[in-house]
Amino acid sequence: MKTRLDFMNMKQIGEPITMVTAYDYPSAKHVEQAGVDMILVGDSLGMVVLGYDSTIPVTVEDMIHHTKAVKRGANDTFVVTDMPFMSYHLSKAESMKNATRIMQEGGADALKLEGADGVAEIIEALTHGGIPVVSHLGLTPQSVNVLGGYKVQGKNAMAARKLIDDAKKCQDAGAIALVLECVPQQLAEEITKQLEIPTIGIGAGAKTDGQVLVYHDLIGYGSEKVPKFVKKYAALASTVEQAISQYIIEVKNRSFPDESHSFNMKEEELFSIYG
Ligand code: KIV
Ligand code: NA
Repeated sequence: MKTRLDFMNMKQIGEPITMVTAYDYPSAKHVEQAGVDMILVGDSLGMVVLGYDSTIPVTVEDMIHHTKAVKRGANDTFVVTDMPFMSYHLSKAESMKNATRIMQEGGADALKLEGADGVAEIIEALTHGGIPVVSHLGLTPQSVNVLGGYKVQGKNAMAARKLIDDAKKCQDAGAIALVLECVPQQLAEEITKQLEIPTIGIGAGAKTDGQVLVYHDLIGYGSEKVPKFVKKYAALASTVEQAISQYIIEVKNRSFPDESHSFNMKEEELFSIYG
C-alpha cells in the first residue's frame, strides 16, 4: 500500500497521483484492481449513491458504513474518507470523537476536511493525535449555501491570494495533501508550486500533482448531468439498462431461464413428486 511518503515522493519526481472515489465493495475492487494510487470515500456518496441533492445530509454513520465496505474491497489501497457536514465544527472534542470513529470503526487511513478558516486547528489536533488529514479547498461542496452555488472559486486576484494563504495554512497545520476543486488552472499551478505537499485537482487543470474524479462520473454510471471538468471514460448506465431490458424481454417471452440455467432431478426420483 502506498503511504504519504510515496505521495510526497511522487510529487518530487513529477509522477501524477491518481485518486478515484469508491463507496462500496465492488467499486472499491474495480478501483484497486485498476491500480489507482489512493481511494476517496467522498461525501459525494450522498449525491451519487444516496440520491440527495447535496452533500449536506450525509452523516458520520453514513461515512463509517461506506468506508467499511470500501476497505473490504480495497484492503491494499490508501483510503481517505471525508468528514461530513458539520462533523468537525461543533467543538474540538466533538471533531476528535467523530474523526476517531471514522478511523477506528470505518478503517480509513486518512480523513479529508473542507476549508481552512476555523478548521486549521482541527487539522493540527488530528495530526497530533495520529490522524493524517487531506485538506480540500476551492469549491467546497459542504459550503454550497455560503458560496451561493457550485461555481469556480478564486477567479479574481483577491480570492486567489486568499486561496494561496489558506493552502499554506492547511499545510502548516499538518495536512498531508490538498484537494483543489474547481479553480482556474493558473491558480492551481501556482499553489502546487508553492506547497511542499501534493495537490490533487478536480476541475483544477493539468498542473496539479494528482487528479481525482468521482467513480460514477468517470464511468458514466447514473450521473446524467456532470460538470464541465468531468471526462466520462465509459457509459455504464446505458450498458446496465440494456442488460436489464433484455432480461425483462426474455422473462416475458420465457426464453430465460433455459436448460443451461436450470437444475434437473434424476428420472427415478421423479415419480414421487407427481400428484
Ligand atoms: O466527495 C467527493 O467525491 C470529493 C471529491 C470531489 C474531491 O470531495
Ligand atoms: Na467530498
